[in-house]
Amino acid sequence: MSKKRNNKHYLITGGLGFIGSAISNLLLERGARVTIFDNLSRGKKKRVKFKHSRLKIINGDIRNISHVRKSLKSINAVVHLAYINGTKYFYNKPTEILDVAVKGITNVIDGCIENKIKELYLASSSEVYQTPSKIPTDENESLKIPDVFNPRYSYGGGKILTEIMGLNFGKKYFKKLIIFRPHNVYGPDMGNEHVIPEFINRIKKIKNKNFKIQGTGNETRSFIYIDDFLNAFNLLLKKGKHLNIYNIGTSEKVSIKELAKLISNISKKKISIQRAPLKEGGTKKRLPNIRKIKQIGFIQKIKLKEGLKKTFESY
Ligand SMILES: NC(=O)c1ccc[n+]([C@@H]2O[C@H](COP(=O)([O-])OP(=O)(O)OC[C@H]3O[C@@H](n4cnc5c(N)ncnc54)[C@H](O)[C@@H]3O)[C@@H](O)[C@H]2O)c1
Repeated sequence: MSKKRNNKHYLITGGLGFIGSAISNLLLERGARVTIFDNLSRGKKKRVKFKHSRLKIINGDIRNISHVRKSLKSINAVVHLAYINGTKYFYNKPTEILDVAVKGITNVIDGCIENKIKELYLASSSEVYQTPSKIPTDENESLKIPDVFNPRYSYGGGKILTEIMGLNFGKKYFKKLIIFRPHNVYGPDMGNEHVIPEFINRIKKIKNKNFKIQGTGNETRSFIYIDDFLNAFNLLLKKGKHLNIYNIGTSEKVSIKELAKLISNISKKKISIQRAPLKEGGTKKRLPNIRKIKQIGFIQKIKLKEGLKKTFESY
């Protein structure tokens, strides 16, 4: 990563979360001013390492326009990450997910327009592809809500709305509006509501060998270590193009069964995999086509095995 100084003032919504805190730390390191906006529902202040004169933390709710307005004074660029994550919440908190998604993107866009902020980065997700028609999946894939009655799609549906709001308002009001679709970012202190920490926590405590997983275990995903994600995001700050969408992930495909085995090897605990039905709406295969982010310089540096070791040690 080049160390050129960044003199802008960024607002990072959801900036105390797993990804937001890493982006905030990166920007501070590069010389930028950072205002973090987070309601601390999942965020943690200790994730932001710099007790810095250039850092300000605002405790506010993205659904409240007056909170958002106050945080936007003197801001040059916004990174919008505030959202409710974690697959279990897709099923049991769909109204909250949609509330944060819809009011969040509306307030961020309105606030930027009022304050003449022309640079906006929006976090979408691989969930917008659901079951993609092509593997690897490029950014031109159709976005889907396969069943409006299944609450699972509250998450992906909110991200699809974020994208079309972003692109249409972006055309009219912004100079640099970029959408990125992360594919399973992982690393130390990532919370507990993702497959990797869930497997780590369960394997660490396992008494008999039986290890239950959803699906056959042959379902595949790819994961990107947080440092690699940051490299990719930094490339978007420097070289990302207005009104473009970028997959951020790796081409390192792994089955859920292999993932469990890798973690059991690291923890030196033997497991015997027991299958359970895949949750309704769960997807069998997902793998991003990362040609576009590679074209602006992205290279994966941390392989899954190495990243899992570093993550395991933190749990
Ligand atoms: N981690 C991944 O693999 C992944 C994959 C795809 C997309 N994303 C997207 O990237 C973004 C960041 O994800 P993350 O993994 O850091 O999640 P996270 O849950 O760690 O961070 C989200 C942050 O948003 C804050 N937040 C939630 N509701 C809020 C509200 N109403 N007002 C203000 N703040 C609120 C939380 O306190 C938290 O700090 C999210 O938009 C997520 O959907 C992440």
